[in-house]
Amino acid sequence: LVLVVDFGAQYAQLIARRVREARVYSEIVPHTLPVEEILARKPKAIILSGGPSSVYAEGAPGIDTAIFTSGTPVFGMCYGFQLMASGLGGEVAHTGAREYGRTDVVVGEPGTLLADIPAEHRVWMSHGDSVTAAPEGFTVLASTASTPVAAFENVDSGLAGVQWHPEVLHSEHGQAVLEHFLHDIAGCRQTWTMLNIVEEQVERIREQVGDGRAICALSGGVDSAVAAAIVQRAIGDRLTCVYVDHGMMRLGETEQVRRDFEEVFDALDVVDAADQFIDALAGVSEPEQKRKIIGREFIRTFEAAQVRVFGDADEGETAYLVQGTLYPDVVESGGGAGTSNIKSHHNVGGLPDDLKFELIEPLRTLFKDEVRAVGEQLGLPSTMVWRQPFPGPGLGIRIIGEVTRERLDLLREADAIAREELTRAGLDRDIWQMPVVLLADVRSVGVQGDGRTYGHPVVIRPVTSEDAMTADWARLPYDVIERISTRITNEVAEVNRVTLDVTSKPPGTIEWE
Ligand code: XMP
Repeated sequence: LVLVVDFGAQYAQLIARRVREARVYSEIVPHTLPVEEILARKPKAIILSGGPSSVYAEGAPGIDTAIFTSGTPVFGMCYGFQLMASGLGGEVAHTGAREYGRTDVVVGEPGTLLADIPAEHRVWMSHGDSVTAAPEGFTVLASTASTPVAAFENVDSGLAGVQWHPEVLHSEHGQAVLEHFLHDIAGCRQTWTMLNIVEEQVERIREQVGDGRAICALSGGVDSAVAAAIVQRAIGDRLTCVYVDHGMMRLGETEQVRRDFEEVFDALDVVDAADQFIDALAGVSEPEQKRKIIGREFIRTFEAAQVRVFGDADEGETAYLVQGTLYPDVVESGGGAGTSNIKSHHNVGGLPDDLKFELIEPLRTLFKDEVRAVGEQLGLPSTMVWRQPFPGPGLGIRIIGEVTRERLDLLREADAIAREELTRAGLDRDIWQMPVVLLADVRSVGVQGDGRTYGHPVVIRPVTSEDAMTADWARLPYDVIERISTRITNEVAEVNRVTLDVTSKPPGTIEWE
């Protein structure tokens, strides 16, 4: 077990995930947990995360320096690095030199931590203060143009740290640095696999549910499929999967989900709730309001399904709902420590206040590519595991403006063409997902067959990503874009313009709403 002490970094889960990638089990604890309690869990190593504050700022989160003398190996990153430096008698100063974003690091003495890593490489930094002198007994390993001490170690004491963020993808060799610490300095064994997550969750769910019954909200995507497969392992046929067709799915999707899932899950309950959802959305254009309405209607539908499938609950009986919630859903809905609400994912921030279900969310700490790895380990079909993400609220958040049946039909047609062309070009695996967005309240003038048209634009938004937390716009080949554009404007009445979204995330998000 490696414990990541969270100092309010957005990156704590990312660190935990990188540790899992190094095949070592990891969990996160808040920095407010007393050091005795951290040590009582007998971690093989401790990682101090980055954080937004200066170590000298008033109210800056600190840590009892006993952590550094306990004999347990400790690795500090960014803020954690500065805490280690100041806690052990080194110097941290406001040098006035701030470094944000990509920075070149020069490795002087590689030591154990930076062994075999190129002498000059690029890393991701985000700090105002700098370590100006390492504590006694430490070897300085690297520097940058404005930071004399950018990495250090004291291998005999099992202590090491770097000023940068090795956990982010933009830091070159970040994983190697982390693995040097875990494997070579802390001596952690590489025994953990994705199947351990399954076993752990199966245990936990058995404890939570006892001999109760649960329903699983299946969306057709990989997350809920993997969640369902795990819960099925835990409670067998006391699980019923429910798929809600809310009328905002893509062309042919419900039939396909039914076919795919009936092979894997015995009981699939398909609910046609299109009228209920679309009526509830009448007159609504504001994105958060749409998301809340959709979240609420989902829950109402599952409540009704629960009663239909299991009968009325006995007095005191708990109703369980399985959801495939992932870590990024939690963060973006404002659920992480100190994170702000970007958008309310239907299964987190979009839940109604009077929720009667107790939730089972076995994937809540994972990222999508980890979930895919679990899905493969569980033997789910690859069409299911590699399906591109599609948001729970469906096309409802891809119609900018009010959601109506006519607009949904238009968007469904355009979306089907775009997806068909992407598949034909063999690009499905290269592209993370490609929303097609209907600008329903916008019209533009066009000319077709010698006549004037006054139709709607659609936007295609192909993106690449590793985990949906950040994304880049995908450089689709022009001929693929051209085919999509020509076919949509020719085949979809009312659409006379196709535009391409060339915004990364941040500053954009993947979906438009
Ligand atoms: P954004 O738009 O926040 O999307 O960059 C990140 C990823 O999440 C998907 N998404 C959702 N998935 N319920 C979901 O199940 C939601 O409410 C929701 N909103 C966005 C989006 O498609 C992308 O993959």
